[in-house]
Parts: sequence; C-alpha cells; structure tokens
Amino acid sequence: MNMFTQDQLKQMVADAARDEVLKNMAPGGVLGIGTGSTANLFIDAIAPHQNHFAGVVSSSQASTDRLKKHGFVVLDSNTVTSLPMYVDGADEIDPKGHMLKGGGGALTREKIVAQLAQSFICICDASKEVGVIGKFPVPVEVIPMAQAQVTRELEQLGGVVTLRKVKGSDQVFVTDNQACILDVAGLKVSDPVSLESEINQIPGVVCNGLFARRKADVLLVGGPEGIRRLVY
Ligand code: A5P
Repeated sequence: MNMFTQDQLKQMVADAARDEVLKNMAPGGVLGIGTGSTANLFIDAIAPHQNHFAGVVSSSQASTDRLKKHGFVVLDSNTVTSLPMYVDGADEIDPKGHMLKGGGGALTREKIVAQLAQSFICICDASKEVGVIGKFPVPVEVIPMAQAQVTRELEQLGGVVTLRKVKGSDQVFVTDNQACILDVAGLKVSDPVSLESEINQIPGVVCNGLFARRKADVLLVGGPEGIRRLVY
C-alpha cells in the first residue's frame, strides 16, 4: 500500500477535482470556489484552465486574493443565479455526505456559495471521513453583541464553548463578515440536519458549520489506495 503524506493526498484530490470540473462543466460557466488549504491547491491546479470559465464566485477574501493573483475573474455572488459546481474542502464528512466546515472561519460565505450550486464537490484526505460528525468542534459565527448570550444557549445544548482567537495570539478572530466565531466542542451530532437548524434559531447566530441541509453531492477523497469518488 502507498504511504502518501497528508499534503500529497490533498494535492491528489485537488488534481482530481480539476479533472472532474473540466470534464463535467461546460465551457463558459461560473464555478464556485471554497476556502482552506485543499481549496488553495485546487485553485492553483485549475488556474492554467481559467479560460474555461466565464468567472468564479469565491467563498472568502483569502480565496478571492489567491484567485485574483492567478488572474481569475472573480464575480459578486449577487450577480449569479446558479452555479453548476462548487468545490470546497471539509473538516469532517460522514457516510451520508453531511459535512462539518468552518475550521478556516469562512463558513457563512461557504454556505452561501454552496446554496447557489447545483453540485457540491467535497475534496479532502481520508482523515476527514468520520462515522459521526462532532469530534471537531462545531464553529458558530455570531454577531459580536450576542456572543455571551449565544454562548449560554450553546452550553445548554451540552456544548463546551470557546471564543476563537487568531492562531498564536490573544486577539479575537474576526470573520470576513465582521463577526466572531464560537467553537463548540462536545455536542452530540446524531442528527446533523436538526442540530444545524436548532443552532441557527438562536438569535445572533449568523450561521453554523454543519453542512447537513445542503450536503455534498460528490466526494473526492484521497487515501492510501489513491482517489475514491463517492456520489451521495
Ligand atoms: C474553511 O472555513 C473551512 O470550511 C475549510 O473548507 C475546511 O476547514 C477544510 O480546510 P482544509 O482544506 O485546510 O483542511
């Protein structure tokens, strides 16, 4: 069996996603693009083929900056009514294609772009595959004035809540939407669809990292045996 590093696996799925998109998406369409280290590799892999697309819609400022450096035409999501495909990574994915996302803090914009897409192609290495979502804390993006109240409500749901800080600093992490993120550990995610809705009902919550209502349609996952392609 091959022993690939995690970085090699991410590169393999990024290349597989490039091939999947070029094969299945007609020229002249608009592609949705996600955020994170795997999505970054996908951006780099698809960059030489950017003329295949009329443009792209991005799910974060970080991805927009990277796309623009490559010369992509980055469109405002308000100018498109539908995207044939959206390619993005995940922090966890269960056997039904429900995902947990937001480790990079871009969950709200990712969910907006995913909602526009006809097909969500999730790309990740096999370490992200789980039986039940919830080992990774559930990120919840919150309007700053509601932070304390939302924390109490999430604690009532059984969560252990941490206000996200910028890595290696004491500064509060601020999202692209000028909001903060509560990372909620210890939640029992036996029904991700219900929990996603329940958390979204708390006043002050902008969005949470459970992508269960709009889950993945296709998973390209890299493991020791190479790339596996799953359709949900
Ligand atoms: C960004 O907010 C996230 O949803 C990412 O898509 C997710 O964290 C996966 O990131 P990596 O590809 O870096 O693991």
